[in-house]
Amino acid sequence: MVRESWASRVGFILAAVGSAVGLGNVWRFPWMTAKYGGSAFLVVYLCIVLLVGVPGLLAEFVIGRRSKRNPAGALARLAPGTKSWGFVGLFGVVTALVLLSFYSVVGGWIVRYFLASFTGSYFAAPGEYFGTISFGWEAAAFQVAFLALTALVVLGGVRGGIEKATKVMMPLIILLLAVLAGWAITQPDAGSGLSFFLDFNPEPIRNDPIGLLQAAAGQALFTLSLGVGTMITYASYLGEDNSLPFDGSVIAVLNTAVGVLAGLVVFPLLFAFQGGLTDASAGGGPGALFVSVAGAFTQVPYGEVVAVGFFAAILFAALSSSISMLEIPVAYLVDEHGVSRRTATLSLAGVILVTGTVCALTPDLFTFVADTLVNLMLTAGLAGFLVFAGWILGSDALAEFDSGAGGFASSLGVPWLWSVRTVLPLFLLVTLAVNLYSLL
Ligand code: PHE
Ligand code: NA
Repeated sequence: MVRESWASRVGFILAAVGSAVGLGNVWRFPWMTAKYGGSAFLVVYLCIVLLVGVPGLLAEFVIGRRSKRNPAGALARLAPGTKSWGFVGLFGVVTALVLLSFYSVVGGWIVRYFLASFTGSYFAAPGEYFGTISFGWEAAAFQVAFLALTALVVLGGVRGGIEKATKVMMPLIILLLAVLAGWAITQPDAGSGLSFFLDFNPEPIRNDPIGLLQAAAGQALFTLSLGVGTMITYASYLGEDNSLPFDGSVIAVLNTAVGVLAGLVVFPLLFAFQGGLTDASAGGGPGALFVSVAGAFTQVPYGEVVAVGFFAAILFAALSSSISMLEIPVAYLVDEHGVSRRTATLSLAGVILVTGTVCALTPDLFTFVADTLVNLMLTAGLAGFLVFAGWILGSDALAEFDSGAGGFASSLGVPWLWSVRTVLPLFLLVTLAVNLYSLL
């Protein structure tokens, strides 16, 4: 059977942007920003996105397009004379399952808020509402609903499912967020939210530099979907004619732009109606987005309409990311074990139905997975991919980087290769060590 591929270059870019833009931008980012004191976190995070994220993204693209395989198959095949690199790829496949287990719980919350926004059923007591729906059997049921939507798209295949769906969802997300941002920043008292988000306050850097670095690194990888093999998998469906450095830059810029746009919606609302993140109920914790922003909708005219638009945008963003998580193990089963897409998708959804339900029933486990474990696994995974691209592929990686990249872009190949060989894995390994140390 012929391996699937993207129908167009735009299709690939939108699918990759769809993967990158997600709950990381609208839900995990405000949570982490609140935990680490606002703009200081933003600055460190942006630096890591630029200096580690973009080269890391290109390393995954190079591995994927070179091998035309899922992460496990890619690393096993491209390493001459040994199959053991395949385990590094397999680690990514497992990470994808771990990610999707908590991500679909949050996805379930979004589905619920989206539906509840039509009737305004949480408007009477927005603070308590999140508490009653966030964990438990109802949360598990909505998690399954979100997972089912995800599986439905993946069942459609690369072109007919993922590419088609993201081509519709991405423009809608941007349109909805732009309209909402225009509305949010003109609300009274929006300014204090914006200044929390945008003014530079060095104090958190002094208080807990290590914690901040860890969290910012984890979030930078998470937001670009790195360290799991999503970008390896998506690039494996590419032909040779794209410029990887160009496409990678476009994807990173769009992800950051949408992140800022989401911040322009979320932070003004937090401050305009909720008095900011210092509020104990809103401050920190995975509920930050829901308690505060949903609370804001209850206080404005036509709040239901605004809320429906907001949760629709987030639902699309979440789905275009969750499909990219599910696609990793699906591609693995299809490529390596000759399983049909249908069987692979349905059986993997069955597995995540169970692990996701466990997350939905166990708040402490959920928080550990979504915060600590994600930071650890993505950092370790990306370090592995970088060492592989830099030292095992080496000059082949450079050739793949250059292929389709004209002039200026291809002159970036050599500095890219050396950073992928040296400073970047070193940075990730130090971050990983610090992560592990702080667990003790
Ligand atoms: N980048 C996605 C987000 O920001 C999350 C994600 C991580 C998706 C890893 C795929 C792989 O929500
Ligand atoms: Na993102």
